[in-house]
Amino acid sequence: MLIAQITDLHVTRAGELLANRVDTRAALGKCVARLARLEPQPDLLLITGDLTETATDEEYAYLKAALAPLGLPYYVVPGNHDDRATMRRAFPGMAPADAGAEDAPFCFAVAQPDWPLRLIGLDSIVPRRSAGALCAERLAWLAAQLEQADAARPALLFMHHPPFRTGIAPMDACGLLQGLDEFRALITAKAGRIAGILCGHVHRVIHAAIGGVPVLLAPSSAHQITLDLREAAPLGFCLEPAKIVLHDWRPETGLVSNYVYIDDFPGPYPFK
Ligand SMILES: [Fe+2]
Repeated sequence: MLIAQITDLHVTRAGELLANRVDTRAALGKCVARLARLEPQPDLLLITGDLTETATDEEYAYLKAALAPLGLPYYVVPGNHDDRATMRRAFPGMAPADAGAEDAPFCFAVAQPDWPLRLIGLDSIVPRRSAGALCAERLAWLAAQLEQADAARPALLFMHHPPFRTGIAPMDACGLLQGLDEFRALITAKAGRIAGILCGHVHRVIHAAIGGVPVLLAPSSAHQITLDLREAAPLGFCLEPAKIVLHDWRPETGLVSNYVYIDDFPGPYPFK
């Protein structure tokens, strides 16, 4: 199963640049064009949060219109810049909520009969806060979902906040600050049922593991957070080349992930 992941698109309002510098709408256009050129085409697309910058209906509508020509099934989870109720309007049926509970966590699981994986979209946000949290309700829901996965058909989790310390201090300060120990204990206990955990939020390529389960943080399709591992690092961003991640899962190998530059570059050339 070939799964494309993009993250932290931060689609802005029409005519606005992010931080007066980054044209995230143009970045999304280049990202979609690169996705469309992939051969073979992925089976589906996952977007791990911060779909929009200010969570307006219009920003989500712009994103949906940009993705539509791909014709790929896609699934999304919210990031700290998103809004659950607005996402439920934009993506009806993806994470159903009872009437009046449109602000409930945007969590869902998908298991198509012909898929070798179960997808679990886990909402890690706290509304109107940058830092993330996994409350007892979401952890119990996740535990129940993992009970339905097994080694033959493992779960692939995707979420916004990374469930580990990245070393980039200003991002760790707004990381997954609640429920982290409980989440890591659950993943460790159920590791044999989990193919991997995909996340975003820190706008960099970072790899970790929990109980042997790979945890892969994808870079943004727009702008990146500056790599600075000093304790008092300031928060900054840069325009390192943006990437898409292509996760190939097979029963005999598990998750094998390639990083695909979005911008064009010279080559390929033959070796002779
Ligand atoms: Fe972000």
